[in-house]
Amino acid sequence: MEKIKFVEVGPRDGLQNQTESFSLDFRIELIERLVNCGVESLEAGSFVSPKAIPQMQDSEKVFEALKSKAVDLSFLVPNRKGFDRAVTAGVRSIALFTATSEAFVQKNIRMSIDDSMRVFEEISREAKDRKMRIRGYLSTVFGCPYEGRQSVTSAIELTKRLFQMGCDEVSLGDTIGVAHPRQVREFWKDFRSELSVKNVAAHFHDTRGAALANILATLESEVRIFDGSVGGLGGCPYAAGASGNVASEEVIWLLEGLGFETGISLEELLTTAAWLETHLKNPLKSKLYRSAPKHLYYHKV
Ligand code: COA
Ligand code: ZN
Repeated sequence: MEKIKFVEVGPRDGLQNQTESFSLDFRIELIERLVNCGVESLEAGSFVSPKAIPQMQDSEKVFEALKSKAVDLSFLVPNRKGFDRAVTAGVRSIALFTATSEAFVQKNIRMSIDDSMRVFEEISREAKDRKMRIRGYLSTVFGCPYEGRQSVTSAIELTKRLFQMGCDEVSLGDTIGVAHPRQVREFWKDFRSELSVKNVAAHFHDTRGAALANILATLESEVRIFDGSVGGLGGCPYAAGASGNVASEEVIWLLEGLGFETGISLEELLTTAAWLETHLKNPLKSKLYRSAPKHLYYHKV
């Protein structure tokens, strides 16, 4: 069976968009539970300003509690200060964030795209010297809340730069969930005429209920790395109305049903989603979770 790499982003991309405050114990237990589901790559937290994103404060302690686990725990670093915190904590895997949209980068990390690239080039050099793994995020690839539709050319150029500076993987995001499967299909066709998708991940949000269709369209292009967030947690603090990441359990349900091997237990993920929901003010949005366990047998092919 062909393998798919699944990257769970709930503990960072998911939690940072919730209005609840979460204890460290909760954040650590969430990651432990996800690891027990079979997840081997997780975005575990971020070293950002605790004033800007209080949900991610003390990510050092999250890493400290989990560092002995044999999984890839990645932490988002928005700037030099965040990188220094990651180094001091002993983190082995970092994520850098930029976007195709100038306005979106400015709102998020208060830099221009070019400035973010310059800062990240410097950080990447040092990270590589320290043998750290680097994941690059390129957001708003299909559309931006401020600038509208984005060009494939800028996604290609920025992805090239992220790989050139030493990113091991680049995740291309439909950050606000506006992509249509046809746009996605055409996007990958153009993208692949210039670049290999070997270490490229796809990151969809489910605002319009099209995330699974967009993953299906992406699979045609031989992308084999997908991001998701347990229960469909998430949103975007800089994009009103954007809903959460595609739910991890829906991604696993789709992929396993198509005959791909993810190494992740759907049943365990659903149990984790149920546990997670008991800590939230609002019900989880994941449609698969909402219908489970009654119809779970449908995922078996
Ligand atoms: N970790 C901790 N604190 C940080 C920090 C970091 N990585 N970067 C900045 N800060 C603090 C500064 O120490 C300063 O604190 P003070 O007010 O107590 O002196 C304050 O944040 C502002 O610092 P400044 O250098 O002026 O940063 P800025 O305003 O240009 O930008 C950001 C700060 C962008 C890093 C901050 O707003 C942030 O972390 N935003 C969240 C970004 C994010 O997570 N986006 C989601 C990605 S999808
Ligand atoms: Zn996301």
